[in-house]
Amino acid sequence: MENHLEKNIEQTLAYHERTKHHYYRYAHAPGYMDWDTQPHPFRFYEGTSSTQLPFLKDKQPAKYIELYERSRNHINEFSLKHIGAFLELSMGLSAWKSISETKWALRINPSSGNLHPTEAHLILPDMNENAGGVFHYDPFHHALERRAELSKIVWTEMEGYYKTKGFFIALSSIYWREAWKYGERAFRYCHHDVGHALAALSFSANLRGWKVTYLNTLSDKELRTILGFNQVSWIEHEEEHPDLLCFVHSHKNSKIPLSFPSETLSYFSDIKFQGTPNQLSKDHLDWDTIGDVSQATLKSKTEAKTFEWDANPYFPQEFQFSAEQVIRQRRSAVAFDGKTTISKSQFLAMLDKTLPRQQSAPFDLGLFDISIHLLLFVHRVEGMEPGLYFLVRNPNEYNLLKEKSSSEFQWKKIHEYLPLYLLKTGDFRQIAASVSCGQEIAGDSSFSLGMIARFDKEIKKAPHNYRTLFWETGMIGQVLYLEAEAHDVRGTGIGCFFDDPVHEILGVNDNSYQSLYHFTIGGAVEDIRLMTHPPYHHLESTS
Ligand SMILES: Cc1cc2nc3c(=O)[nH]c(=O)nc-3n(C[C@H](O)[C@H](O)[C@H](O)COP(=O)(O)O)c2cc1C
Repeated sequence: MENHLEKNIEQTLAYHERTKHHYYRYAHAPGYMDWDTQPHPFRFYEGTSSTQLPFLKDKQPAKYIELYERSRNHINEFSLKHIGAFLELSMGLSAWKSISETKWALRINPSSGNLHPTEAHLILPDMNENAGGVFHYDPFHHALERRAELSKIVWTEMEGYYKTKGFFIALSSIYWREAWKYGERAFRYCHHDVGHALAALSFSANLRGWKVTYLNTLSDKELRTILGFNQVSWIEHEEEHPDLLCFVHSHKNSKIPLSFPSETLSYFSDIKFQGTPNQLSKDHLDWDTIGDVSQATLKSKTEAKTFEWDANPYFPQEFQFSAEQVIRQRRSAVAFDGKTTISKSQFLAMLDKTLPRQQSAPFDLGLFDISIHLLLFVHRVEGMEPGLYFLVRNPNEYNLLKEKSSSEFQWKKIHEYLPLYLLKTGDFRQIAASVSCGQEIAGDSSFSLGMIARFDKEIKKAPHNYRTLFWETGMIGQVLYLEAEAHDVRGTGIGCFFDDPVHEILGVNDNSYQSLYHFTIGGAVEDIRLMTHPPYHHLESTS
């Protein structure tokens, strides 16, 4: 057992090391786009019955801040109407883009390379005339594909167990989708995307007055059974890997069990799942390193963990957009203008939103202790000297961070309550772009950042934490995407960066802290060659 754990730790750390981009070589990848094997952007379970979900008809009045705060939300019933709205504003389509003959869909949740490896599955009770069951969410049709039926008794048992009504949502990843383009580093990107999706779900649920709670005791093996993945005949390389299961409920204040009732679990192993996953690509490359790290980072059954955060109010701000507008208009900037300046108060408010709060989406879903900090390259923020700054998201780590990083840093606290420190003044535009694989978006923005994880300590505790760290970065990324829109600028996630050169900037020369994800925010330059089409116009033309 001990040896097994040691081996998994070693393999996880080795994967991380091997998939670093360096100035002198990128992580192993195909190096070109093989369009002949490009994965189909949508997963369907062929042979299942599909129920189209209703679309939101009216504009949603909720203000942007209501995405975060729970106190003002009105609780909606669990019905297909509201589950449709929940999915439409989290995992649905946001638009189509086209240029000459090429057309592609964008989604509410972002994804590296727009490849969307993350799938959502729901376990629903009977709702009015709609029978419950296990469903796959098909975002192309905004529909639920029924993969299994569930007996009423199961729901009665579950409601007794959780002592409240609700339903489940699970996420899974198709690694091949990202590996097709990014090769070995793809495992990292898939787990960023899980984090983005998780935050998107938490926000959207909050608009319904619901709360998403991560059931952190479950093992991946149990989740495979619950989702019936062990009954599916997967095409080699195209399997879905279970990521997590959440309970969605309206029990705002009380604690709910963070597990799945064991009698119900055995029921799931006996039910019959239907449907055949569609073929995504006609051929595949075998990235066995991804198979290895996936295996090494599997989650076993664990004790329930709960987390308590402060309940500090957010910085007071007035926003011109509603919550729905911000969610729908979220896009990645492909270029920045190199001149837009944001104000210091906007900058501080954006950072403030990345801090977890009690009774506030998305971080109260109970993922993890806070392990990610922000190394900030401030380029154009009015009232702030350009330079290198640090947001210590977990104050317990201030001393260690200080000890591990460059002794030249000032660590000058620049705000009374926000744990934000000036490390060093200077012009970091070139450096930020250079370490971001030479992408100008990191230097032409108002600010960019690296998400610095408490690293080897977490991996040594449990290799599965490798995934959770990426989920946390994705959640922060989702907050930043929305914050950028709310402040009338734009963001972009940056998965491509040179790992160790970032650590050199920080002055960290061991595995104690590692940069896992980058982000940039500023004034976007639109690509005017692209045409934009409504998200579900393709359904209108076929009906
Ligand atoms: C995890 C992650 C990594 C990304 N990395 C990069 C990157 O390195 N460079 C870039 O230009 N865009 C990057 N993006 C932006 C995606 O390409 C973008 O999200 C995708 O094309 C979908 O477009 P949308 O965000 O407008 O919906 C990244 C996005 C995510 C979520």
